[in-house]
Amino acid sequence: MGAQIARVGVVGLGTMGAGIAEVFARAGLDVVGVERDDAALAAGRGHLDTSTGRAVKRGKLTADEQAALVGRIEFSTDLAALAAADLVVEAVPERLELKRDLFGRLDGVVGAGTILATNTSSLSVTAISVAVSRPERVVGLHFFNPAPVQELIEVVRTVVTAPEVVDAVTGLARRLGKTPVGCGDRPGFITNALLFGYLNRAAAMYESGHASREDIDAAMTAGLGYPMGPLALLDLIGLDTAHEILGTMYRQGRNRLHAPAPVLGELVTLGFLGRKAGRGFYDYSGIDGIGASSAVVTPEDSRVRRVAFPDPSPGPLADALAKAGHDVRRDARDGADLVVAPGDPDTFARIAADAPAGAVLVATGTGPVVASAAASGRPADVVGLHLAGPDGAVAEVVRTVVSAPSAVATVAAVAASAGFTPVVCADRAGFVVDALLVPYLNDAVAMLETGYASAADVDTAMRLGCRLPAGPFELLDALGPAAALATLERLQAEVREPGLAPSSLLSQLVTAGLRFADL
Ligand code: 3HC
Repeated sequence: MGAQIARVGVVGLGTMGAGIAEVFARAGLDVVGVERDDAALAAGRGHLDTSTGRAVKRGKLTADEQAALVGRIEFSTDLAALAAADLVVEAVPERLELKRDLFGRLDGVVGAGTILATNTSSLSVTAISVAVSRPERVVGLHFFNPAPVQELIEVVRTVVTAPEVVDAVTGLARRLGKTPVGCGDRPGFITNALLFGYLNRAAAMYESGHASREDIDAAMTAGLGYPMGPLALLDLIGLDTAHEILGTMYRQGRNRLHAPAPVLGELVTLGFLGRKAGRGFYDYSGIDGIGASSAVVTPEDSRVRRVAFPDPSPGPLADALAKAGHDVRRDARDGADLVVAPGDPDTFARIAADAPAGAVLVATGTGPVVASAAASGRPADVVGLHLAGPDGAVAEVVRTVVSAPSAVATVAAVAASAGFTPVVCADRAGFVVDALLVPYLNDAVAMLETGYASAADVDTAMRLGCRLPAGPFELLDALGPAAALATLERLQAEVREPGLAPSSLLSQLVTAGLRFADL
């Protein structure tokens, strides 16, 4: 079955389907693209023209090659056009009944040897496969957005998918220049199961006013080198799609962390579906090109400040401030605009007692900052500052419920002047970077623990599917499993959320003093 895949069909030419059709056509395959009516077909063609037009503009494709590529795609509104296809990939909206109905109809159209693939993001491939007479010919082929760019394809086998079907589509994925990772039929497979909890937390974080959308996104791009922040990525994926995926994952697993953040539903109701609608978390009117929206507004106040570090070991923050031309000194008593001290309340209170009136008091460490503020006796002057990410490139500027806005703005401006990306946030466990990152790392460990995927496959899937600089296990080892465990414990103590309980493998690894690379 499917030894020589030369002619493929793609049903549904939305963002993903059009991208998938482009990938096939780029690899020289003959493609039939099917949509439900002429208007949808025209929109699908539009996606293809825009995407290939972008490649022409960038000099990646000549106009002739673009014409040849699009010429390899036949457009139709009739499923019968797929009769001679070796493989059909469906990319219609994420509704089980819709996909089942389509597969049932395809079953009556295609030949006995045709492989039927679903690009579902989160539905059960098995549940879709029961709509056809021979479910062994059904497989999941999960592409990532934008399909022409992302290298990963998850190849999802059900318990009855024929091995030769898996082999054929795995070989095809390689011919397309992609990296296939095989996995079983579990909710969200590898990548979405890990990605969407993180995206949902970011949406909830924005909704709660914990930090601005720009700061949430900047925290992950500047702090961890992600190509996009989570809210910009949600806009790229489409908020309707994200809402459906999260809803499905929640119904399947009953994990409260997958219950879609209400703001997603609100934006969908308003028709703010993300990039494709011109508006989502961000407004895209007038923006051409993905990822251009999350411009970060940094404070411009770069006046030289007198910054005192009375603690004996000032560290990289003091070095960076001195390098940026600030007057960094040891003693606060001869005048200082900012006094920086470790956040433990006793030390902080002692140092605050010597700080000049009018100085901003900066508490370092992982918080809670409000404990330092209370100990200082002048809580309005106290702001937290935490350098986050493996390189400490992001300065989380932490406001407590009583921090004076001017004090927060001063700390953000000073951090920016020293080359850090300031991210202003509320005084919550994990601030922004760790609060978004560490639960995702914990989910990856829990996945490893179930035996569903190897650490290497998970790292590959996350690196290639989302173009992340490192996979979760690589990151865990870089940050240190003990630091991750400590953050989880703080998060759990604050929100009492069972889904944030540290996985037992992580706890055991920390007890044993091991890293994931040692396993
Ligand atoms: N179609 C085709 N090509 C595109 C494209 C699109 N929609 N958007 C960008 N590109 C190409 C550009 O042409 C460029 O190609 P080149 O390197 O050959 O010149 C390349 O991608 C980089 O584009 P830009 O320079 O314009 O922009 P960036 O460097 O900022 O990259 C990005 C944009 C590729 C979107 C990048 O930000 C990225 O990888 N973001 C993460 C996306 C991600 O995580 N996707 C996974 C989502 S989850 C998912 O899809 C699962 C599903 O089930 C929901």
